[in-house]
Amino acid sequence: SETTEYFTIDEKLIDGIFKPRKDFSHKGTYGKATIAGGSYGKIGAAVLATKSALKVGAGLTFTLAPACGYEILQISCPEAMFIESGTRFIENFKTEAPTVYGIGPGLGTHEDTENGLLDFLKEYTHPLILDADALNILSKDKKNIELIPEHSVITPHPKEFERLFGSTENSFERLALALKKAKECNLYIVLKDHHTQVVTPEGKVFYNITGNAGLAKGGSGDILTGILTSLLAQGYTQEEACVLGVWLHGRAADLAAEKYSKESMLPTDVINEFGAVFEELT
Ligand code: APR
Ligand code: MG
Repeated sequence: SETTEYFTIDEKLIDGIFKPRKDFSHKGTYGKATIAGGSYGKIGAAVLATKSALKVGAGLTFTLAPACGYEILQISCPEAMFIESGTRFIENFKTEAPTVYGIGPGLGTHEDTENGLLDFLKEYTHPLILDADALNILSKDKKNIELIPEHSVITPHPKEFERLFGSTENSFERLALALKKAKECNLYIVLKDHHTQVVTPEGKVFYNITGNAGLAKGGSGDILTGILTSLLAQGYTQEEACVLGVWLHGRAADLAAEKYSKESMLPTDVINEFGAVFEELT
């Protein structure tokens, strides 16, 4: 339809989305999440996204990363399994098990990573999450957007959005362009900003009001990718995962800011507040 519907993400909306864990359940109930990211010097981004996916509750979490990240990831995220691709950067994205992919944190844009990602997307047809350098790689050719599987989620910050879809004069025009592209490409667009907006292919816009400037630090976006990948793996729909995900990210950041200040809070502190947010919801 041509109409746009606007919503503010409030606690009532979140209460309607959040599904508490069931007593009679096992790891298979909560799905498989795979974070694909990291390159030499940016393994930390893969660590943050992986920890975030774990702490949001996926049943099994994998990290697809280059060999130079092996010990780092196994030590910092012992609950996750490591899948090796390449030595200093990822060359191939394919895994055996059916899984939800979150691709991009710390990925880098090496030519071999680029070719590997484009080849993967030419074959892969399930919805996934694309962030950071995965989006920067796709930005190199306008036609690449068509390779993204339908109903996938992309999480650009304003610069990444501009690289993908072109520049706009202000945030209103950016939102209008995002609505157009979400519909055209059948994608969920998480427009990251002070007030992040979730834009759906059906023309809904959800405004998030949690979060604070303590998130204005490298790594904050990587943990959002982990959250969204984990929620999709657990069976939330794309709309539910995006709405609950951005709210949880911001709410945890608000709790971290109360404890540590906006200056000193780190993305790791935000991950460590997820539990308190789940406690509020349950
Ligand atoms: N108020 C509220 N939320 C904020 C604010 C703010 N002032 N500043 C940032 N955020 C939130 C955004 O909404 C988003 O969810 O923090 C997150 C920042 O995400 P990114 O911009 O992706 O930042 P970052 O984690 O540094 O990205 C890591 O990926 O995007 C690439 O090149 C980038 O190297 C960087 C890497
Ligand atoms: Mg980012």
